[in-house]
Amino acid sequence: MSERLHVFDTTLRDGEQSPGCSMNIDEKLRVAQALAALGVDIIEAGFPIASPGDFEAVHRIASEVSGPKIAALARAARRDIERAAEAIEPAGERGRIHTFIATSPIHMEAKLRMMPEQVLERAVDAVKLARNLAPEVEFSAEDAGRSEMDFLCRVVEAAIDSGARVINIPDTVGYMTPDEFGARIRELIERVPNADRAIFSVHCHNDLGLAVANSLAAIEQGARQVECTINGLGERAGNAALEEIVMILHTRRDRYDLETGIDTRRIVPTSKLVSQITGMPIQPNKAIVGSNAFAHESGIHQDGVLKHQKTYEIMTPESVGWTTNRMVLGKHSGRAALRSRYRELGIELDGERLDEVFARFKKLADKKKEIFDEDLMAILSDESETVAERVKLVSLHAASGTGDTPVAAVELEIDGVLHKATAEGDGPVDAAFKAIKSLVEPNGELLLYSVNAITSGTDAQGEVTVRLKDGERIVNGQGADTDIIVASAKALIAALNKLPNMHARQVHAQYSGV
Ligand code: KIV
Ligand code: ZN
Repeated sequence: MSERLHVFDTTLRDGEQSPGCSMNIDEKLRVAQALAALGVDIIEAGFPIASPGDFEAVHRIASEVSGPKIAALARAARRDIERAAEAIEPAGERGRIHTFIATSPIHMEAKLRMMPEQVLERAVDAVKLARNLAPEVEFSAEDAGRSEMDFLCRVVEAAIDSGARVINIPDTVGYMTPDEFGARIRELIERVPNADRAIFSVHCHNDLGLAVANSLAAIEQGARQVECTINGLGERAGNAALEEIVMILHTRRDRYDLETGIDTRRIVPTSKLVSQITGMPIQPNKAIVGSNAFAHESGIHQDGVLKHQKTYEIMTPESVGWTTNRMVLGKHSGRAALRSRYRELGIELDGERLDEVFARFKKLADKKKEIFDEDLMAILSDESETVAERVKLVSLHAASGTGDTPVAAVELEIDGVLHKATAEGDGPVDAAFKAIKSLVEPNGELLLYSVNAITSGTDAQGEVTVRLKDGERIVNGQGADTDIIVASAKALIAALNKLPNMHARQVHAQYSGV
């Protein structure tokens, strides 16, 4: 039987640290459910000490998501570890504390201002404390890629002696090359006397585009846990992409005799869900999950694929969840069919939540003949009806045409009170945004506005993502509708609803900034 490679997903922790990728608690819960359905072994749900919201997200995921182990990150510090332990408590035996401290000379001197012996002592204390508070402990030597090998070996040995059962070797700054990194893992496994009492893990960043290659090199040398994220999200250039690692192991079983628990057919739906929730688009030529990943343009390629799929395809689109025979749901489809399709997409809906989604599905089916998977995902990400809706769109009318100045009139209900505004703009979307923004404050600086036609055809739903910045806070909103101006307004309102202290503007004479 093949050995197991444990897939540790850190989309909700390292991935969420990507600029502009922050998610609210409900969104994190949806991603966690999708990760569980995908079959990851461990979900790193967050960094509980970072904020009350982070704590709450980890706690809810630990309470509500069954299947994978739930890990919480903690610096090698008492408060962090205690908070992490509290957050994962509902996961019981599936809880893991992931504690870390930097071991490279530059990090120890410039960031921690600690001597190596102090770092070693701190690592030991942290692992011992975590071991007393959680069923399982993972220890990471941050910036291990640039750490001195003798010191790294000592820290790893001490962490294992203190009770860590997973030792993670991060290439925190994405500096390593595959040969070097693989050799580092081999040397650690060979030199550390108690290495057989722990699973070695890797966590590679993609600053030089080598995160997946470095992870594979480490796996070849004995690492049996890989830390990765959906769509390669993560700090700076991101982390190793889960979908790429898994599909390499799957497609090249001849070379890597390792099994994972991943249901590969859920890869694309999970990738789309994460992209929709974070507002981080997927580049079309991204391996596995990009919209062009299985598109054949050149005549020679098309001819080859028509004669034999394997001429130009090393894996099938269906094997990673691209659906060719799209399930056609429409206005006559019932609740059971809807629920079952969502289940196939990795999303469990029951009770009131199913009723809510079914009502929205019916509304859409009245406007659009065929409802595709993308539409179903958009129904879920169209948060204007699921987030605490302090602002609601009551009506929107926009007019534009060649030679005319675009104008929009909106009616919003803000905390139960009706407010109206009209505005002119550089286009109907601009006019609608100006009218909406004139009614609330704070109303954020627009960082991103992106529109996606989520299926083909002129009746396709437009899915809009809006990212707003208010002070230090960055929020995303999504909206989907067959009318692109309405989708845009919904996305803006969804984002506004996430801004703390947002309220109706006191005096809202007609917007003057046109
Ligand atoms: O990149 C890194 O070193 C990390 C650690 C906290 C594991 O994210
Ligand atoms: Zn990282």
